[in-house]
Amino acid sequence: MRSAIILVGGFGTRLHPLTLATPKPFLRVGGVPFLNHLILKAKEAGALEIVLASSYKAEIFQEYYGAGNEFGIPIKHAIEEQPLGTGGAIRNALKIVDENAKTVAIFNGDVLSEHDLAKQFLELEKSEEAIASLYLTKVVDARKYGVVTLTSDNFLLEFLEKMENPKSNIINAGCYIFKKVLNEFIVNSYDDNQVVSVEREIFPSLLSTDKKILGYLDESYWLDMGTPETLVKASADLIQGKVSSPAFKKTSGSALIGQNCQIATAAKIFGGSDIQDEVIIEEGVIIESSIIGKGAQIAAGAQIINSVVNFGVRVPKSMILINNFYGF
Ligand code: GDD
Ligand code: MG
Repeated sequence: MRSAIILVGGFGTRLHPLTLATPKPFLRVGGVPFLNHLILKAKEAGALEIVLASSYKAEIFQEYYGAGNEFGIPIKHAIEEQPLGTGGAIRNALKIVDENAKTVAIFNGDVLSEHDLAKQFLELEKSEEAIASLYLTKVVDARKYGVVTLTSDNFLLEFLEKMENPKSNIINAGCYIFKKVLNEFIVNSYDDNQVVSVEREIFPSLLSTDKKILGYLDESYWLDMGTPETLVKASADLIQGKVSSPAFKKTSGSALIGQNCQIATAAKIFGGSDIQDEVIIEEGVIIESSIIGKGAQIAAGAQIINSVVNFGVRVPKSMILINNFYGF
């Protein structure tokens, strides 16, 4: 059996003030809470249950996802009273993973990708030596990410989290698969409530004892939506069909328009904007690649580009917002 854990307990500090009220994985991206994309991706790849490893604002996840009935897959909640770090969160979640799970996919809760998760599962399940598989991708500037070096047959040599001078441009893309033997090792090697980083402690320590970790390099669409620019881009890319997701039904391609909106005929809305329900948009407004919260009013002549407007607020006449969060 395959299972999945999704790490959703970070504070999302780079997305303040949005994440003061809403945890990052619950922010709306492509018209739905971001986490929906990951839950359905895991389900599509054959996972039979999801464990949400939460801490910050855990009640939001519990209330919305409950036992998973609406998603057609059982959802469990592993809640850390204090954030335990990525490794501590994984350990805490593993304790409630179904005991029949032979492989468990572990996602960072903020990565939008088109990588072939079913293939990643299969590759690891077929390998006799490997205890884990890491989804990898290539980026131009790897300083903000975990970087790996590989052997000629694609096993990990080193894992180096966030360096000023990265040793390669192949990065940890934020989706691991662990075999049961590794899960048992992790549960036995660390204490309850111990803060551990999977990137800075667990991976380097496994590699130092010659454990075999497969690299799964997939260069299809990948985005970490952890910053203001990438959050807006993830949503706009989904709406414009630049990336597909099992949680997003394709639209006309230029924008998503909610119900009961009043939009002046001469307003221009494009670039994958998400206009939520009951929004009022007046004459001469331009909205490009932006997210407009429910019930917001955009007064005549305003221009909103790559920005997020909070629900219920009024953007004044002729205001120009570029790369901005307004009304939070
Ligand atoms: N439950 C729980 N508890 N979750 C946590 C905790 C914790 O203490 N700390 C972080 N998380 C979750 C976050 O909510 C997020 O979904 C995920 O772990 C990764 O945290 P980020 O804060 O987004 O990390 P990052 O983007 O700087 O770096 C990570 O992702 C990169 C790829 O996007 C690392 O895994 C890098 O190695 C990787 O390259
Ligand atoms: Mg991130």
